[in-house]
Amino acid sequence: MKAGILGTGHYVPEHVVTNKDLEKIVDTSDEWIQARTGIAERRIAPDDIDTSNMAYESAVGALEESGISAKDLDMILVATVTSDMGFPSVACQIQERLGAFQASAMDLSAACSGFIYGMVTAKQFIESGTYQNILVVGVEKLSKITDWEDRNTCVLFGDGAGAAVIGPVSDDKGILSFELGADGTGIPHLHQTSEDYIHMNGREVFKFAVRQMGDSALNVVEKVGLTKDDVDYLIPHQANIRIMEAAREKLEIPDEKMSKSVHKYGNTSAASIPIALSEDVKAGKIKEDELIVLVGFGGGLTWGAVALRW
Ligand code: ACO
Repeated sequence: MKAGILGTGHYVPEHVVTNKDLEKIVDTSDEWIQARTGIAERRIAPDDIDTSNMAYESAVGALEESGISAKDLDMILVATVTSDMGFPSVACQIQERLGAFQASAMDLSAACSGFIYGMVTAKQFIESGTYQNILVVGVEKLSKITDWEDRNTCVLFGDGAGAAVIGPVSDDKGILSFELGADGTGIPHLHQTSEDYIHMNGREVFKFAVRQMGDSALNVVEKVGLTKDDVDYLIPHQANIRIMEAAREKLEIPDEKMSKSVHKYGNTSAASIPIALSEDVKAGKIKEDELIVLVGFGGGLTWGAVALRW
């Protein structure tokens, strides 16, 4: 028995902020943002929609698609760096709203790699036989830790949530392999400041990401004796199209076999991979028995990848 994805869901706020809108706030241009990042617009949540609200909406979608009832969840893991408050966790907040009272619940902090860390944690509990059904959510309201006067960062980020129910599947399916990593020496390049804003050394993070995304994606495939030719679909963290392209080129897979939503949502950190996954499932882009690679990197620095058979 392996742990696999039983259903997915996502939520993005309605309010669209375009690059043209940002031109009115900071010294930037639509051309610069599109050329450097591939981002055209992002979704920003209003004051009355906080992280837990978005997490809840994505969770409802994932439960519906999986056919699992909230009361049958054994655990809720929420990956986020923008929880509503220090405590309780977003996981406890949505446990209450879902009525998932059998489930243990905790948040997990690994920035943009958080959803991969969550999936791998869920896999351990399921494959050890401890738990059956685990809800993993990646959610961020990055707009509340964005300095809207800093053009280096404010053009990059967006808000949203994605979720998956993970549970037992047959041996030839599910999560085949994973890689997780962290390098705390990278903290100066990407962290939250004492004013609570995101500080980023874009060039350093870019260099790290280009190298790590490609390496990790390839590692998880080779770990199970497969090669890049076996990969059917790639879902990279949606941070920057140039970083995503580097990973795609390393795996030598065609453009249409890579998930892309960075142009419409920007970088939604822990939410980016599960949003992309959920949208791709609904669009029929992922087919039975295909080999899918999910790969991300983020603040910490952290990184993670999984190879899974759909
Ligand atoms: N509009 C116009 N000019 C800008 C903007 C902007 N929005 N932002 C920065 N610039 C300027 C800078 O001031 C700098 O000017 P200078 O050279 O006069 O000092 C110049 O543009 C920087 O240009 P480049 O170095 O050529 O920019 P680069 O190609 O590195 O692209 C970017 C910058 C997009 C930030 C890139 O480095 C990147 O994507 N890095 C990775 C970011 C990332 O993915 N972070 C993940 C964080 S996620 C998390 O953990 C929440």
